[in-house]
Amino acid sequence: MKKIVCLGSLNLDHVYQVDHFVRPGETLNSAGYSVGCGGKGLNQSIALARAGAPVMHAGKIGHDGAMLRDTLMRAGVDVSLVTEGNTPTGHAVIQVDAKGENAILLFGGANREITEVEIDSALDAAEGGILLLQNEINSIDLVFRKAHERGIPVAFNFAPFDPEDAKQLPLGLLSYLIVNEIEGAGVAGVEDPKAILVALKSNYPECRVILTLGKAGSAFLDDDGAMVMLPPYPAEVVDTTSAGDTFIGYLFAGLLEGMALKEAMELATRASAITVSRPGAADSIPFRSELA
Ligand code: RIB
Repeated sequence: MKKIVCLGSLNLDHVYQVDHFVRPGETLNSAGYSVGCGGKGLNQSIALARAGAPVMHAGKIGHDGAMLRDTLMRAGVDVSLVTEGNTPTGHAVIQVDAKGENAILLFGGANREITEVEIDSALDAAEGGILLLQNEINSIDLVFRKAHERGIPVAFNFAPFDPEDAKQLPLGLLSYLIVNEIEGAGVAGVEDPKAILVALKSNYPECRVILTLGKAGSAFLDDDGAMVMLPPYPAEVVDTTSAGDTFIGYLFAGLLEGMALKEAMELATRASAITVSRPGAADSIPFRSELA
């Protein structure tokens, strides 16, 4: 099986249970607080590992981030390219409301101090496999270009979305782009799901685009340009944090096993339905055996 290298963020997630998201000028009591492991990169690596894929994580923590490296290692992720620097570990302040929706405030910290030497090491490791990225680390543009020069396929989850990045990033160099409705609309400049997929296909013909639609499921364009919709699995929503990360990890685990895109997306949909039914980020990601 081909391997996958995830060059991505590692965050300490500070999670607060709230009745509603705090409003400007408001001071709000939270009903619960916990610290857990997160970061879109770490979550996606853990989802890959729990799905059974061989995965290496490359990224950076500060002196306060050992728990993140240990958690990855315990999940079976190769952490030999997780480095430690002097900048504090990235963190997220996450409010989870009564409906299980979240609002996330990020501090990039060490995630934004990745050096060119560290990028080159991740690319060396990804030779012959796939490189998976999210938009929570620095130098994404450089990674795209270097990977393309070396013929390494890149999968990019454009989250969090940034309009300035959308103008500058050479998305045409990608092999896979995974976006939700809001990110997709930001890149494509249109809002309807089919219109998003059609616009992205026309702008980036070499790139396979996967569109996640939250409660409406997910979609992609088949080889004839018809939109294929995958419905969601019913789930009782407790916390949607890392549902997208679970979807991506399981999607690529399925693709690495040789599944067709639709089959891999079905697997990913089942896994993310479990994730939303329990609290936390990395903690809520299911093991493959739980999908039976
Ligand atoms: O996708 C969820 C993740 O986004 C959280 O774990 C948080 O750290 C942010 O990166």
